[in-house]
Amino acid sequence: MSYNNILVTTDKSIATIVINRPKKLNALNRETIQELHNAFAEVDLDKNIRVVILTGSGDKAFVAGADISEFAYFDVVEGANLSKKGQELLFDFIENLSTPVIAAINGFALGGGLELAMSCHFRIASDNAKMGLPEVSLGVIPGYGGTQRLPQLVGKGKAMEMILTAGMISAEDALQNRLVNHVVSQEELLLLAKKLASKIINNSPLAIASAIKAINANFKDGVNGYQVEIAQFGNCFGTEDFEEGTTAFLEKRKAIFK
Ligand code: COA
Repeated sequence: MSYNNILVTTDKSIATIVINRPKKLNALNRETIQELHNAFAEVDLDKNIRVVILTGSGDKAFVAGADISEFAYFDVVEGANLSKKGQELLFDFIENLSTPVIAAINGFALGGGLELAMSCHFRIASDNAKMGLPEVSLGVIPGYGGTQRLPQLVGKGKAMEMILTAGMISAEDALQNRLVNHVVSQEELLLLAKKLASKIINNSPLAIASAIKAINANFKDGVNGYQVEIAQFGNCFGTEDFEEGTTAFLEKRKAIFK
């Protein structure tokens, strides 16, 4: 599939999706959100792809937010629809994907950009990255899950501070507050993402999909995560991956997951 605003490449079992609007600091307009949805849906269906890396083009921004020019004149109903549709199409969609997604934050990750990174399964950042949810400075609040996912990652107090001050934090601050897992130089960022992806690839894709479901269940209202874990754990016993993983261990060889 060809896209106007994103680039998708694959190398062995790793897909890299690059948001490619550098002149607009990779801001998320409607078309980009739809294209990202399509690309994620496509890679998730492709059983050869085992990990996705998401990053921004250029050396300045991951994503500088939702495209402000598209919603500046929206009314109440349009605003609510923007948030609902975006969450369903992209942010919740990525979080619940079976294929793990690593956000490689290579510069500004602001507003919808940080929300996008937070919907990925985990995040790494370059040392020049700056992160924040500046929406209240525009008279609006984070609408792509930011008020929910930021407190999950950094705790309520830090999330309140970040959202209410609309300020940006450095990569180092983000690391200390567990918003990102690693910080490296910009040159090393994709290398690290690929190194982490290579470790994931060694493991059972079916077990990984189950682990994502069970971990996410911890953060869903009205869902008992322990029960989801029991069900997902049980399901694993019926898979070829389980047979291969345990047999390989007993035969003292490396498992090969199909
Ligand atoms: N939506 C639409 N366009 C955006 C954008 C966004 N969220 N963020 C940046 N851009 C555009 C700018 O309008 C500018 O376009 P232009 O050259 O056609 O005027 C271009 O990207 C470059 O941005 P600029 O502001 O000139 O870069 P800078 O280095 O001076 O500042 C930022 C960088 C990130 C501090 C600044 O762009 C900014 O504050 N962006 C908005 C961040 C935000 O509030 N995001 C949350 C949205 S809900």
